[in-house]
Amino acid sequence: MDVVLGIESSCDETAAALVRADGTVLAQAIASQDDRHAPFGGVVPEIAARAHVERLAPMIDRVLDEAGMTLSGCAAVAATAGPGLIGGVMVGLVTAKALAMASDRPLLAINHLEGHALSPRLADPRLGFPYLLLLVSGGHCQILLVEDVGRYRRLATTIDDALGEAFDKTAKVLGLGFPGGPALERLALAGSPQAVPLPRPLLGSPEPHFSFAGLKSAVVRAHDSGAHAAADIAASFQQAAIDCLLDRLELAVGRLDQAPPALVVAGGVAANAAVRAALLRFAHAHGLAFGAPPPALCTDNAAMIAWAGLERLAAGGAAARAGDALDVAARPRWPLDPGAEAVRGAGVKA
Ligand code: KG4
Ligand code: ZN
Repeated sequence: MDVVLGIESSCDETAAALVRADGTVLAQAIASQDDRHAPFGGVVPEIAARAHVERLAPMIDRVLDEAGMTLSGCAAVAATAGPGLIGGVMVGLVTAKALAMASDRPLLAINHLEGHALSPRLADPRLGFPYLLLLVSGGHCQILLVEDVGRYRRLATTIDDALGEAFDKTAKVLGLGFPGGPALERLALAGSPQAVPLPRPLLGSPEPHFSFAGLKSAVVRAHDSGAHAAADIAASFQQAAIDCLLDRLELAVGRLDQAPPALVVAGGVAANAAVRAALLRFAHAHGLAFGAPPPALCTDNAAMIAWAGLERLAAGGAAARAGDALDVAARPRWPLDPGAEAVRGAGVKA
């Protein structure tokens, strides 16, 4: 049965994994760089790229050793080729090219977002197409209809910040350090979600897009007023964000000719238990099945990249087996749905 080596280096996680076509993760390793970026309060691209250079090659050796395999036993080498911080993406992609060339294996250049989008099928092999996907990460906040491998229809995106970015910025305001999402979730447990009046940007607006910049500014004002405990701000922020997600999803689902049978969530923010619980309730209220990968598969990892490669091999036949050309370029931006219209007010997010 096919085994694919996956490599991920698009942000601040260096990761390698070997995954088999039946979804078994034979071996995986992941190194976060939090300690290196924490002093700067955010990911520094140059530091990230250098850390990937130091860590990736020995990590790949380790996962191959752990699985008792060599590269020649792999069906392909899959690496994130974008979107992401270009220096880091290049480290992973160039490494994959060298390994593919040396072992005469095909190279699969994977869209990082496709890794997130297909990760629910790695977690649950029974999940079939189509499904509605809420992709919430540090760089993206999108609602997508996943029709098949390689066929993604974007229904909504953010016009300013991604949701993970909003969590991180709010955490920074509250002095929770970096990365902020998990710390903010923990603090929110001690607060009241109704304590601080915060806006729900775009709630009720006619297109299902997202906006979080105004919410973050309101958090800054609430914090600066000195009138609220940090835990109450954290809990109220999280609730406002969840209310926005549910309102926008409601609109997106209602606009589909036919609702898909399942709602799934993926990306780093999908690790958040309050977000997962709210989405589960929403799905059940709308007669949809609900799927969420385990938290370790939600945040950046290489198993999802290997899995996206396996999905391509399974779906694409001979053409997919030939792999991508060895001169394929790393891409800082790479939308999953190239046909999606640009959104008024949207920044440069893919
Ligand atoms: O998918 P991911 O690992 O990287 C990107 O592709 O962006 O997502 C990282 C984002 C960060 O903004 C992080 O704060 C957020 O996901 N995150 C969380 C939680 N765990 C990670 N946000 C809220 N609650 C969490 N438990
Ligand atoms: Zn990601």
